[in-house]
Amino acid sequence: MNNAADGYDALSWVDISRRIDPVYLAQIKRHSVVDSIASTNDWAMLQFKEGETPAVCFSEQQTQGRGRNGRDWVSPKTQNIYMSLAWSFALKPENLHALSLVVGVVIVQLLKQYGINAQLKWPNDVLVRGKKIAGVLLESRIGVKKNLNVVIGIGLNIEMNSALGKKIDRQWTDMSREIGSKKSICRNKIAGILLTRLLQACENYGRLGFGAYKDAWKSYDICRHAELEITTSDGVVRGKGLGISDNGALRVMLNGQEKIFYAADVSIRVKQ
Ligand code: BTN
Repeated sequence: MNNAADGYDALSWVDISRRIDPVYLAQIKRHSVVDSIASTNDWAMLQFKEGETPAVCFSEQQTQGRGRNGRDWVSPKTQNIYMSLAWSFALKPENLHALSLVVGVVIVQLLKQYGINAQLKWPNDVLVRGKKIAGVLLESRIGVKKNLNVVIGIGLNIEMNSALGKKIDRQWTDMSREIGSKKSICRNKIAGILLTRLLQACENYGRLGFGAYKDAWKSYDICRHAELEITTSDGVVRGKGLGISDNGALRVMLNGQEKIFYAADVSIRVKQ
């Protein structure tokens, strides 16, 4: 187990759970805080088989961390957060995709509490000054009772070791760099706040949908008015971002016509 002698405080359920709102803490049926795991998302998906959800897993390290669109998520054992929550929704699959946008809002609002102004690149890349600070990976399956079993995986950079960060093929940052303080950031506290907000968001989303989060998402949107490059299974297209639709899809002006995307890899083109 990690300890202060290793140079950082270990994640611990005792320390995380005392930061979780008791109303939400009481809902959690299973939790796991481990030193190392292939992917916290895999652990979370398994919990549906046992019927023990909501369930949450935190790990100090992931040996096979996954990102969106088949990418790896570099998950060194330093001081980041890797967590997954398993939650079952009584929703149809077509009503699920805005949930990933809601999770982005949750992370941006958490960062704001620490004085960090982050933005969102559709659907849920969390960026600070154009550099990625957090990512969200949702994986879902239809359950036996036709409910939608969803795993929400979050990777949040807290204090990434620069040498290990070189493995990341995109510009990145972390909370410590953005706060600019040598004072150590308490991961257990961040984990507790993040989990409380996430549980709250899942409950709200199940009842009310995207509506309660849409305006917030729009206020953090960096794709609106930007020149975008959009990669889908059909190829690559370029157009201007028009914002998001009421159900969280990406609206883009392509050759004078508005087109809607529900799934795509988006990058922002920098004007030469
Ligand atoms: C992205 O590509 O932006 C999504 C990254 C998601 C990473 C998190 S870390 C915890 C969870 N487990 C994984 O294997 N992936 C997600």
